[in-house]
Amino acid sequence: RTVYVNGDYLPESEGRVSIFDRGFLFADGVYEVTTVLDGKLVDFDGHAARLERSLRELDMPMPMTRDALLEVHHRLVAENDIDEGLVYLQVTRGAADRDFAYPAEETEQTVVLFTQAKPGLAKAPEKGLSVDLQPDLRWGRRDIKTVQLLYPSMAKMAAKRAGHDDAWMHEPGGTITEGTSNNAYIVKGNTIVTRQLGNEILHGITRAAVLRLAREAQMKVEERAFTVEEAQSADEAFVTSASTFVMPVTSIGGKAVGDGQPGRIAGRLREIYLDEAR
Ligand code: PDD
Repeated sequence: RTVYVNGDYLPESEGRVSIFDRGFLFADGVYEVTTVLDGKLVDFDGHAARLERSLRELDMPMPMTRDALLEVHHRLVAENDIDEGLVYLQVTRGAADRDFAYPAEETEQTVVLFTQAKPGLAKAPEKGLSVDLQPDLRWGRRDIKTVQLLYPSMAKMAAKRAGHDDAWMHEPGGTITEGTSNNAYIVKGNTIVTRQLGNEILHGITRAAVLRLAREAQMKVEERAFTVEEAQSADEAFVTSASTFVMPVTSIGGKAVGDGQPGRIAGRLREIYLDEAR
């Protein structure tokens, strides 16, 4: 595999980052994951815009223009012959002596990109996900896509050890925020309910596309917080992310959702999302 590290295209075994990199020492960095379908990037502009926003919120500049970034994506997809897969991008504040204060502004940022081939990524899911419930113990700026992913990783492992596929995280009081690496939705009758944007969740690029497509298809959408109880008595549930598109959820905290089968609205949304992405 060819990877990109600070201006160079290298074999993956030659990609190197300093042990003093602030991404390594402080999780002081942000990332994006853009999907590739039929060799084409899905919603690159959305991911680039969110990257700019994450960087701005952390007082970091864009390390290169959007066009230059797109060019790196294209070259890696071509060189690694990716038909279905992902491009991972990470930008950190760079390497500096370990200090909680940010280093001098001229410190060179670290920029790393690599691809992951995922053949069959867009295949229809055979069954819905079983999601566990875990308290949301992340920090208060989940709208910034930082590489600080330890808690979601712990929550996913706890869910897996309990025999589930993933976890939905909830706040004190029982409102659900999102999945460990996806946005969460329930369907009540014909209404799609998903948490409103704010600092409590990541502003999913797939979420934005799916809500737009749902509204275009005259489906009803409510952006508001919903509780664990509401979720467990919903007719359908699903999650969205760049790498899973729209994925049905058939069990929440050990309770079957609706009839326990992947929902009709989730299936329809997955279809129209993939139609537009291709
Ligand atoms: N995760 N919420 C969280 C906490 C996420 O980490 C992600 C994405 C999403 C969905 O966002 P989008 O639709 O823009 O992918 C929501 C990526 C895929 C990851 O960490 O691999």
